[in-house]
Amino acid sequence: MIQIDKSLIDALRESESIVFFTGAGISSESGIPTFRGKDGIWNKIRPEELANFNAFIRNPEMVWEWYNHRKKIIHEAQPNAAHLTIAEMQNHFKNVTVVTQNIDNLHRRAGSKTIFELHGNIERNFCINCKKFFNEELNFSAGVPKCECGGLIRPDVVWFGEYLPEDQFLGGEKAAISSDIFFVVGTSAVVYPAAGLVYTAKQSNSIIIEINIEETALSSMADYSYFGKAGEILPTILEEYRSGLKS
Ligand code: OAD
Repeated sequence: MIQIDKSLIDALRESESIVFFTGAGISSESGIPTFRGKDGIWNKIRPEELANFNAFIRNPEMVWEWYNHRKKIIHEAQPNAAHLTIAEMQNHFKNVTVVTQNIDNLHRRAGSKTIFELHGNIERNFCINCKKFFNEELNFSAGVPKCECGGLIRPDVVWFGEYLPEDQFLGGEKAAISSDIFFVVGTSAVVYPAAGLVYTAKQSNSIIIEINIEETALSSMADYSYFGKAGEILPTILEEYRSGLKS
Protein backbone atom coordinates (compact mmCIF):
# COMPACT_ATOMS: atom_id res chain seq x y z
CA MET A 1 0.00 0.00 0.00
CA ILE A 2 1.20 3.50 -0.80
CA GLN A 3 2.69 5.52 2.07
CA ILE A 4 1.06 8.91 2.62
CA ASP A 5 3.35 11.59 4.08
CA LYS A 6 2.50 12.57 7.63
CA SER A 7 3.16 16.21 6.77
CA LEU A 8 0.33 16.03 4.20
CA ILE A 9 -2.07 14.64 6.79
CA ASP A 10 -1.04 17.45 9.16
CA ALA A 11 -1.62 20.01 6.39
CA LEU A 12 -5.06 18.53 5.71
CA ARG A 13 -5.96 18.96 9.36
CA GLU A 14 -5.24 22.68 9.08
CA SER A 15 -7.17 23.07 5.82
CA GLU A 16 -10.61 24.45 5.17
CA SER A 17 -10.70 24.72 1.39
CA ILE A 18 -9.79 21.80 -0.78
CA VAL A 19 -10.00 21.61 -4.54
CA PHE A 20 -9.93 18.49 -6.69
CA PHE A 21 -8.86 19.28 -10.24
CA THR A 22 -9.68 16.15 -12.19
CA GLY A 23 -9.20 14.68 -15.64
CA ALA A 24 -10.06 11.57 -17.61
CA GLY A 25 -7.81 9.35 -15.45
CA ILE A 26 -10.19 9.60 -12.48
CA SER A 27 -12.90 7.91 -14.56
CA SER A 28 -10.71 5.24 -16.12
CA GLU A 29 -11.42 2.86 -13.22
CA SER A 30 -15.11 3.31 -14.11
CA GLY A 31 -14.34 1.95 -17.58
CA ILE A 32 -14.26 5.24 -19.48
CA PRO A 33 -11.15 5.47 -21.72
CA THR A 34 -8.69 8.34 -21.28
CA PHE A 35 -7.53 10.56 -24.17
CA ARG A 36 -3.77 10.13 -23.92
CA GLY A 37 -1.49 7.34 -22.74
CA LYS A 38 -1.30 3.70 -23.78
CA ASP A 39 -4.97 3.04 -24.59
CA GLY A 40 -5.87 6.70 -25.11
CA ILE A 41 -8.67 7.70 -27.49
CA TRP A 42 -6.48 10.19 -29.34
CA ASN A 43 -4.08 7.37 -30.30
CA LYS A 44 -6.84 5.85 -32.40
CA ILE A 45 -8.83 8.85 -33.56
CA ARG A 46 -7.70 12.27 -34.67
CA PRO A 47 -9.35 14.83 -32.37
CA GLU A 48 -9.59 17.38 -35.16
CA GLU A 49 -11.91 15.00 -37.02
CA LEU A 50 -14.37 14.73 -34.17
CA ALA A 51 -13.90 17.19 -31.32
CA ASN A 52 -14.07 20.22 -33.53
CA PHE A 53 -16.84 22.56 -34.76
CA ASN A 54 -15.79 22.40 -38.42
CA ALA A 55 -15.87 18.62 -38.29
CA PHE A 56 -19.43 18.83 -36.94
CA ILE A 57 -20.56 21.14 -39.77
CA ARG A 58 -18.84 18.89 -42.33
CA ASN A 59 -20.19 15.64 -40.99
CA PRO A 60 -22.65 15.99 -38.07
CA GLU A 61 -23.75 12.35 -38.42
CA MET A 62 -20.22 11.07 -37.80
CA VAL A 63 -19.62 13.39 -34.85
CA TRP A 64 -22.95 12.41 -33.29
CA GLU A 65 -22.22 8.72 -33.83
CA TRP A 66 -19.03 9.17 -31.83
CA TYR A 67 -20.73 11.16 -29.04
CA ASN A 68 -23.63 8.70 -28.82
CA HIS A 69 -21.06 5.93 -28.46
CA ARG A 70 -19.36 7.84 -25.63
CA LYS A 71 -22.73 8.62 -24.04
CA LYS A 72 -23.55 4.92 -23.94
CA ILE A 73 -20.25 4.07 -22.23
CA ILE A 74 -20.76 6.91 -19.74
CA HIS A 75 -24.38 5.95 -18.97
CA GLU A 76 -23.31 2.42 -18.21
CA ALA A 77 -20.41 3.57 -16.00
CA GLN A 78 -20.66 4.06 -12.24
CA PRO A 79 -18.69 6.47 -10.04
CA ASN A 80 -15.64 4.68 -8.60
CA ALA A 81 -13.86 4.86 -5.24
CA ALA A 82 -12.04 8.06 -6.27
CA HIS A 83 -15.25 9.98 -7.10
CA LEU A 84 -16.93 8.62 -3.96
CA THR A 85 -13.99 9.56 -1.71
CA ILE A 86 -14.03 13.13 -3.03
CA ALA A 87 -17.76 13.33 -2.25
CA GLU A 88 -17.09 11.87 1.22
CA MET A 89 -14.49 14.62 1.83
CA GLN A 90 -17.45 17.03 2.05
CA ASN A 91 -18.18 15.56 5.48
CA HIS A 92 -14.69 16.46 6.70
CA PHE A 93 -13.79 19.85 5.22
CA LYS A 94 -15.59 23.18 5.11
CA ASN A 95 -15.21 23.80 1.37
CA VAL A 96 -14.68 21.00 -1.11
CA THR A 97 -14.74 22.05 -4.76
CA VAL A 98 -14.40 19.85 -7.82
CA VAL A 99 -13.01 21.48 -10.94
CA THR A 100 -13.22 18.91 -13.67
CA GLN A 101 -12.24 18.59 -17.30
CA ASN A 102 -14.53 15.58 -17.55
CA ILE A 103 -17.90 15.67 -19.26
CA ASP A 104 -19.14 12.42 -17.73
CA ASN A 105 -21.16 13.72 -14.75
CA LEU A 106 -19.64 11.06 -12.46
CA HIS A 107 -18.66 13.57 -9.75
CA ARG A 108 -22.28 14.73 -9.50
CA ARG A 109 -23.55 11.16 -9.49
CA ALA A 110 -21.07 10.38 -6.68
CA GLY A 111 -22.59 13.18 -4.58
CA SER A 112 -20.17 16.10 -4.98
CA LYS A 113 -22.08 19.36 -4.61
CA THR A 114 -19.80 22.16 -5.83
CA ILE A 115 -18.58 21.30 -9.30
CA PHE A 116 -17.16 23.44 -12.08
CA GLU A 117 -17.23 21.68 -15.45
CA LEU A 118 -14.58 23.29 -17.63
CA HIS A 119 -15.29 21.25 -20.77
CA GLY A 120 -19.09 20.92 -20.60
CA ASN A 121 -21.34 17.96 -19.91
CA ILE A 122 -22.32 15.21 -22.31
CA GLU A 123 -25.82 15.01 -20.85
CA ARG A 124 -26.69 18.48 -22.18
CA ASN A 125 -27.08 19.63 -25.78
CA PHE A 126 -27.76 22.94 -27.46
CA CYS A 127 -28.75 24.42 -30.81
CA ILE A 128 -25.81 25.85 -32.73
CA ASN A 129 -28.08 28.58 -34.09
CA CYS A 130 -30.29 29.97 -31.28
CA LYS A 131 -28.29 28.33 -28.40
CA LYS A 132 -31.42 26.84 -26.82
CA PHE A 133 -30.60 23.98 -24.43
CA PHE A 134 -31.96 20.44 -24.76
CA ASN A 135 -31.46 18.30 -21.68
CA GLU A 136 -33.77 15.47 -22.64
CA GLU A 137 -32.88 12.42 -24.75
CA LEU A 138 -32.62 13.43 -28.39
CA ASN A 139 -34.42 11.58 -31.16
CA PHE A 140 -32.16 10.47 -34.01
CA SER A 141 -34.82 8.58 -36.01
CA ALA A 142 -34.90 11.31 -38.69
CA GLY A 143 -31.16 11.97 -38.68
CA VAL A 144 -29.25 14.57 -36.67
CA PRO A 145 -31.79 16.32 -34.44
CA LYS A 146 -32.68 19.92 -35.17
CA CYS A 147 -34.10 22.72 -33.08
CA GLU A 148 -37.49 24.37 -33.93
CA CYS A 149 -35.43 27.22 -35.39
CA GLY A 150 -33.83 24.81 -37.88
CA GLY A 151 -30.37 24.79 -36.28
CA LEU A 152 -28.47 21.56 -35.70
CA ILE A 153 -28.32 20.35 -32.10
CA ARG A 154 -24.84 19.57 -30.76
CA PRO A 155 -23.54 18.15 -27.48
CA ASP A 156 -22.66 20.76 -24.84
CA VAL A 157 -18.99 19.87 -24.75
CA VAL A 158 -16.03 22.12 -25.44
CA TRP A 159 -14.31 21.31 -28.71
CA PHE A 160 -10.77 22.19 -29.75
CA GLY A 161 -10.50 25.88 -30.58
CA GLU A 162 -13.55 26.84 -28.49
CA TYR A 163 -13.74 29.00 -25.39
CA LEU A 164 -14.37 27.42 -22.02
CA PRO A 165 -17.69 28.34 -20.37
CA GLU A 166 -16.74 31.58 -18.62
CA ASP A 167 -18.74 31.09 -15.42
CA GLN A 168 -17.25 27.60 -14.95
CA PHE A 169 -13.69 28.74 -15.57
CA LEU A 170 -14.01 31.78 -13.29
CA GLY A 171 -15.53 29.59 -10.58
CA GLY A 172 -12.64 27.15 -10.90
CA GLU A 173 -10.13 29.98 -10.83
CA LYS A 174 -11.65 31.49 -7.69
CA ALA A 175 -11.60 28.09 -5.99
CA ALA A 176 -7.94 27.60 -7.00
CA ILE A 177 -6.96 31.00 -5.60
CA SER A 178 -8.63 30.42 -2.25
CA SER A 179 -7.66 26.76 -1.86
CA ASP A 180 -5.41 25.52 0.94
CA ILE A 181 -4.84 22.21 -0.84
CA PHE A 182 -5.16 21.56 -4.56
CA PHE A 183 -5.32 17.94 -5.67
CA VAL A 184 -4.52 17.22 -9.33
CA VAL A 185 -6.04 13.83 -10.11
CA GLY A 186 -5.81 11.75 -13.28
CA THR A 187 -4.93 14.46 -15.76
CA SER A 188 -2.02 14.80 -18.16
CA ALA A 189 -2.45 18.57 -17.58
CA VAL A 190 -1.45 19.48 -21.11
CA VAL A 191 -4.69 21.10 -22.26
CA TYR A 192 -4.92 24.84 -21.61
CA PRO A 193 -6.41 27.00 -20.22
CA ALA A 194 -7.68 24.29 -17.83
CA ALA A 195 -4.18 23.12 -16.83
CA GLY A 196 -3.21 26.71 -16.00
CA LEU A 197 -5.37 26.47 -12.86
CA VAL A 198 -2.66 24.34 -11.25
CA TYR A 199 -0.22 27.26 -11.62
CA THR A 200 -2.88 29.66 -10.31
CA ALA A 201 -3.21 27.52 -7.19
CA LYS A 202 0.57 27.23 -6.80
CA GLN A 203 1.00 31.01 -7.06
CA SER A 204 -1.68 31.38 -4.40
CA ASN A 205 0.44 29.25 -2.06
CA SER A 206 -1.83 26.26 -2.16
CA ILE A 207 -0.22 22.87 -1.55
CA ILE A 208 -0.25 20.89 -4.80
CA ILE A 209 -0.80 17.14 -4.60
CA GLU A 210 -0.62 15.11 -7.76
CA ILE A 211 -2.20 11.67 -8.09
CA ASN A 212 -1.52 9.85 -11.34
CA ILE A 213 -0.43 6.43 -12.53
CA GLU A 214 2.65 8.02 -14.06
CA GLU A 215 4.77 11.19 -14.01
CA THR A 216 3.42 14.21 -15.84
CA ALA A 217 4.71 17.66 -16.77
CA LEU A 218 3.41 18.84 -13.40
CA SER A 219 5.18 16.30 -11.22
CA SER A 220 8.26 18.46 -10.70
CA MET A 221 6.22 21.37 -9.36
CA ALA A 222 3.88 19.34 -7.15
CA ASP A 223 4.52 19.42 -3.41
CA TYR A 224 3.50 15.78 -3.15
CA SER A 225 3.21 13.22 -5.95
CA TYR A 226 1.60 9.83 -5.46
CA PHE A 227 1.85 7.40 -8.34
CA GLY A 228 -0.87 4.80 -8.55
CA LYS A 229 -4.59 4.50 -9.15
CA ALA A 230 -6.74 7.38 -7.94
CA GLY A 231 -9.33 4.86 -6.74
CA GLU A 232 -6.74 3.44 -4.34
CA ILE A 233 -4.74 6.52 -3.33
CA LEU A 234 -7.63 8.87 -2.50
CA PRO A 235 -9.34 6.39 -0.13
CA THR A 236 -5.94 5.78 1.53
CA ILE A 237 -5.45 9.52 2.10
CA LEU A 238 -8.93 9.84 3.61
CA GLU A 239 -8.37 6.79 5.80
CA GLU A 240 -5.03 8.14 7.10
CA TYR A 241 -6.67 11.51 7.75
CA ARG A 242 -9.48 9.88 9.72
CA SER A 243 -7.20 7.64 11.74
CA GLY A 244 -5.01 10.68 12.47
CA LEU A 245 -8.07 12.38 13.96
CA LYS A 246 -8.62 9.45 16.32
CA SER A 247 -5.07 9.34 17.68
P1 OAD B 1 -5.64 12.57 -20.57
O1 OAD B 1 -6.11 11.34 -21.27
O2 OAD B 1 -4.78 13.51 -21.33
O3 OAD B 1 -4.83 12.15 -19.28
C1 OAD B 1 -5.31 11.16 -18.39
C2 OAD B 1 -4.31 11.04 -17.26
O4 OAD B 1 -4.83 10.15 -16.31
C3 OAD B 1 -2.95 10.50 -17.70
O5 OAD B 1 -1.93 11.34 -17.18
C4 OAD B 1 -2.90 9.10 -17.08
O6 OAD B 1 -1.58 8.73 -16.69
C5 OAD B 1 -3.81 9.28 -15.86
N1 OAD B 1 -4.49 8.08 -15.37
C6 OAD B 1 -5.00 7.04 -16.08
N2 OAD B 1 -5.60 6.15 -15.27
C7 OAD B 1 -5.48 6.63 -14.00
C8 OAD B 1 -5.91 6.17 -12.70
N3 OAD B 1 -6.58 5.04 -12.54
N4 OAD B 1 -5.58 6.93 -11.63
C9 OAD B 1 -4.87 8.08 -11.77
N5 OAD B 1 -4.46 8.56 -12.96
C10 OAD B 1 -4.75 7.87 -14.06
O7 OAD B 1 -6.96 13.27 -19.98
P2 OAD B 1 -7.14 14.78 -19.52
O8 OAD B 1 -5.95 15.28 -18.82
O9 OAD B 1 -8.46 14.83 -18.82
O10 OAD B 1 -10.60 17.93 -23.74
O11 OAD B 1 -7.29 15.51 -20.91
C11 OAD B 1 -7.57 16.87 -20.93
C12 OAD B 1 -8.51 17.19 -22.06
O12 OAD B 1 -7.96 16.69 -23.29
C13 OAD B 1 -9.86 16.51 -21.98
O13 OAD B 1 -10.78 17.21 -21.15
C14 OAD B 1 -10.31 16.55 -23.40
C15 OAD B 1 -9.02 16.07 -24.05
O14 OAD B 1 -8.87 16.38 -25.38
C16 OAD B 1 -11.58 18.24 -24.55
O15 OAD B 1 -12.31 17.41 -25.06
C17 OAD B 1 -11.71 19.71 -24.77
